[in-house]
Amino acid sequence: MGFFVDVHSHVVPSGDDGAQRVVEGRGLCREAAAHGTAILYATPHVWPHLTLTDEREREIRTNFAEVAEQAGLELRLGFELTPAPPLLEQDLRRYVLEGTDAVLIEVPFTGSADLLIEICERMETQGLRPVIAHPERTQPVLERPSLARDLAERGWLLQVNGSSLTARHGPGIEALAWGLVDDGLVSLVGSDGHRGTRPAWLHDAYAAAFVRVGETQARSLFDGSAIGVTATPDVTLRERARSARL
Ligand SMILES: [Fe+2]
Repeated sequence: MGFFVDVHSHVVPSGDDGAQRVVEGRGLCREAAAHGTAILYATPHVWPHLTLTDEREREIRTNFAEVAEQAGLELRLGFELTPAPPLLEQDLRRYVLEGTDAVLIEVPFTGSADLLIEICERMETQGLRPVIAHPERTQPVLERPSLARDLAERGWLLQVNGSSLTARHGPGIEALAWGLVDDGLVSLVGSDGHRGTRPAWLHDAYAAAFVRVGETQARSLFDGSAIGVTATPDVTLRERARSARL
């Protein structure tokens, strides 16, 4: 039985660079389940040029329901925000990771992190908790690793990608990601799975973390406890029973 809670993936067709068809999304979910994921968040991108219009949200929710039906795990909906000025005017509760008060937002890959910080501060005024996606992959943090500490010390949850820990993105990002783990600044490891060649797997990163930091800390990075979501045996049994009937 898997226990991973993965807060970051692109397994639901949404018009972005993730799964393009429902059948592809289901396949990604089933692969994740087979590799130990019990609860998977689908987090379609909300980009400055691909915002969450009412029409897009309806399409996403329709696709989400179709993927979830045969996912083989518990699929939940969230979003991944890319900082953009209009977010400063919105009710950000719209974007929560389902069943939590947390919102996933990425560090811009290039440029300043000022807008990210401003949006996260706004989240807090709305009773929300920022989850900072893959800081280790971004220029602002690669150039100034202390920025990651500044974000974590505000109480914001850092989420590194499993693929960073397993060196998919090169040795510099791998070293930075492990450095953040070693310093106790990371709360969550997510897959950021997009497609078959970049799957929503966490098992290899978990194995590496188990060796590096020991079972207790490794589990806490992968079991969703950081956002108050854990895979209970009830959920797992229900999902397995449902899958068996399909
Ligand atoms: Fe992502």
